Amino acid sequence: MHYFEYKNGKLFAEDISVEDLVREYNTPLYIYSAKTLRRHFKAFDSAFEGIRHLTCYSVKANSNLCVLKLLSEMGSGMDIVSGGELFRALKAGVDPQKIVYSGVGKREHEIREAIISNILMFNVESRQELEKINQVAQELDSVARISLRINPDVDPKTHPYISTGLKKNKFGLDLEQALESYQLAKELPNIEPIGIDCHIGSQLTTIEPFIEALNRIIKFHSKLKDLGIDIRYLDLGGGLGITYDEEQPPHPVELGKAIRENLKGLDLTLILEPGRVIAGNAGILVTRVLYTKKTSSKNFIIVDAAMNDLLRPSLYGSFHRISCVHEKEGPASTADVVGPICETGDFLAQDREIREVEQNELLAVFSAGAYGFTMSSQYNSRPRGAEVIIDGDKITLARRREVYFDLVDLEDQCF
Ligand code: LLP
Repeated sequence: MHYFEYKNGKLFAEDISVEDLVREYNTPLYIYSAKTLRRHFKAFDSAFEGIRHLTCYSVKANSNLCVLKLLSEMGSGMDIVSGGELFRALKAGVDPQKIVYSGVGKREHEIREAIISNILMFNVESRQELEKINQVAQELDSVARISLRINPDVDPKTHPYISTGLKKNKFGLDLEQALESYQLAKELPNIEPIGIDCHIGSQLTTIEPFIEALNRIIKFHSKLKDLGIDIRYLDLGGGLGITYDEEQPPHPVELGKAIRENLKGLDLTLILEPGRVIAGNAGILVTRVLYTKKTSSKNFIIVDAAMNDLLRPSLYGSFHRISCVHEKEGPASTADVVGPICETGDFLAQDREIREVEQNELLAVFSAGAYGFTMSSQYNSRPRGAEVIIDGDKITLARRREVYFDLVDLEDQCF
């Protein structure tokens, strides 16, 4: 459910007409709905009522400070994967004791910054990383709390690029290696193992893989107990999918219920790291039609947003619903919606049935709130578009549109 709706044939973001926003902020324009973000966070977080838990929103999905601040004010913690995300989370006022740090390649300075900030824990993905964290903690005369990321070898049945819990993926440690690393963690003087972690993939549309992973972890947990390792946190990662097209992912309540049943009263605090399910359908990307052209084999709608603005269709072949901002009757045909970038892979949709549009019409690309702006670039020297966040009738320019100067600001002039 979201708050992007048509009123008298015109698309609105909450109480504000998208056409009015474009008049003020131009295109390409990311529009986020604060009410939708709040609704999604609440729906997710309350699905785990009755289980001691901490929801740590996954910053990589949408890291705009206004989004982080809104979620932090609702009590959300954050799952971060870089020093940059730590910087953002702290800037947004997130309580460091609600921050968990995942990722296979944490650099020394990033580890240092996280220890100094006193985050809740590191989700450690290799033995060498464990040793590095111990060394940095020692230098800081501190003790780092950690969990080890288990790779449970469960097929999440999602796109291969976003599967993470299979043996062949780079993430985490298999059960045997994890056991050895926990033993080491127990011995290391500047490490305190407090959790077990896993994240098996993203855009999951069934519950079973989550439960399969959970059960493997629970079994593993009892082995740790036997070794005298006292685990207090169980981090199940993120991954719950959303509806882009016709997917019917489970509601968070169903996931909560299944987890509750399988946790079987274990005395552990559950951590969840949802990203997409909070932000995905809370954002749209608005773009303007520059030209249309028919060739002997295809119809093309050429728009002013491109793969640098929204990479998902090009990278994963992902489907994003596209509609006209001004709904009106008219003949439909099949077209590719493409951007101005000089790559054949630069498309937002292929062979899409859409009303025949005119030059300058506005199109809305839905479900763009997660992994949209965060994956954008300046490829082809295209300044990134603006981001606005709407809350009822209140508009906040969450990030100004980049200008040409932003393209060269960090470069030497070489003359
Ligand atoms: N926790 C960890 C350790 C993760 O790696 C991720 C996502 C999440 C949580 C959040 O997962 P979510 O709830 O959003 O599914 N760019 C891709 C998605 C990559 C996800 C990477 N990791 C896309 O556009 O589909």
